[in-house]
Amino acid sequence: MTPELEDLFAFLRFPSISTDSRNAGDVRACADWLVAKLTGMGLTTTLHPTEGYPVVVAKNEHQPGRRTVLIYGHYDVQPVDPLALWTTPPFEPEIRGGKIWARGSSDNKGQMLSHILGVEKTLKEKGELPVNLTFLFEGEEEIGSPNLAPFLRANLDLLKCDVIAISDTGMVAPGVPTLGYGLRGIACCEVILRGPARDLHSGLFGGAVANPTTAIARLVASLHDEHGKVMIEGFYDHVKPLEAWEREMWAKVPGVSDEDYLKVTGSGSLFGEQGYTAAERAWARPTAEINGIGGGYQGEGSKTVIPAEAMAKFSFRLVPNQDPATILELVKAHIDKHCPPGVSLLYIGGHDGKPYHTDPSGPFGQAAQRALRVAFDAEPVLIREGGSIPIVQAFREILGADTLLLGLALADAQIHSPDENFPVENFEAGIRLNQALLEELAK
Ligand code: BES
Ligand code: ZN
Repeated sequence: MTPELEDLFAFLRFPSISTDSRNAGDVRACADWLVAKLTGMGLTTTLHPTEGYPVVVAKNEHQPGRRTVLIYGHYDVQPVDPLALWTTPPFEPEIRGGKIWARGSSDNKGQMLSHILGVEKTLKEKGELPVNLTFLFEGEEEIGSPNLAPFLRANLDLLKCDVIAISDTGMVAPGVPTLGYGLRGIACCEVILRGPARDLHSGLFGGAVANPTTAIARLVASLHDEHGKVMIEGFYDHVKPLEAWEREMWAKVPGVSDEDYLKVTGSGSLFGEQGYTAAERAWARPTAEINGIGGGYQGEGSKTVIPAEAMAKFSFRLVPNQDPATILELVKAHIDKHCPPGVSLLYIGGHDGKPYHTDPSGPFGQAAQRALRVAFDAEPVLIREGGSIPIVQAFREILGADTLLLGLALADAQIHSPDENFPVENFEAGIRLNQALLEELAK
């Protein structure tokens, strides 16, 4: 195994699941590993405690008159459940069929480490970098980056930069270099509906009181029409419509046709707002998703019960110019209005992040496209992303810098799902990409 892959395997072995407090020690140990790696490369590296997980900052020696490039990534990962569906254990990385299989391999440790190793390679080959470089790594992206915006505000000088680069997004098809110029925003919340004081016998009491699981089903059903259009009043009010040039351009992008979406999702058919392709819906239209729903007996066989409570977890994906805080107010009003009779409602607000949209043809966008051409020897495509990286719009608002989204994760990377994977080929391309990117951004 190459030293680069050995590094990646070591990084992947940390179960740095930020949402699960049982893994707190692993998340911190992962940050310590990063500090050791970056320090070993000769970068000035600092570990900054926050109210949550630490932020890692590493820099070369900054010289006046040179461009300053900030590269962001996250060392935390999503939970692994359902564990039984993994072919090999999520934190025991393995290479099979040219791919690295592990939680975090694509999202985001493999992509992030390729930037680190690109820098290491340039430093070894040339002794220095062509730009002032700042690495900024956090351990809370998968929980909405609650402590990163305050960290940015408190460290404006430390993080001052001309442009930001991130590889934590998608690549439309193998060998097709992809520059993202937009991300959807996100707003999360959950609801608990409570009925009787305790679980009741559904024969003795069925018909006498409301059933919270029925109520949650009605509430969830009120969110969409039969085509998937969101029925919350005011939800689409500020949505920036898709541009004709964008639709034309995306129609020519390989790997994202409706047939491709059908294949990669394994769904029986596509579904969603009418009048748009699947890619258009995922990249440029807002949605309401139920991420979890529960209540009542889930064990083997039947248990005749009216459960005391039921719950649902929601996330709303947002596009320019929707504002997450405003959307959550509309959501709450909708939930209050549509809460079925006979149950009481507990609303719990969650994290959010604004959508991001930039012009990919500016000087930095062009430099990124040149670097993608060099690294992949192919013409880049320009897309928006359906996923969210909550800090990206905050970078613009707080640091005043735009972000280049240089995704390396393929559609079948199975991020957030069992059997997450990352092609060795993309890991190596990411190292080349970093080297070319710093060269091009220096120009
Ligand atoms: N890397 C993803 C986001 C992503 C993936 C964007 C692929 C574009 C293409 C990121 O780590 C992620 O999953 N973010 C969460 C954010 C949330 C938990 C606040 C998301 O999008 O669900
Ligand atoms: Zn990620």
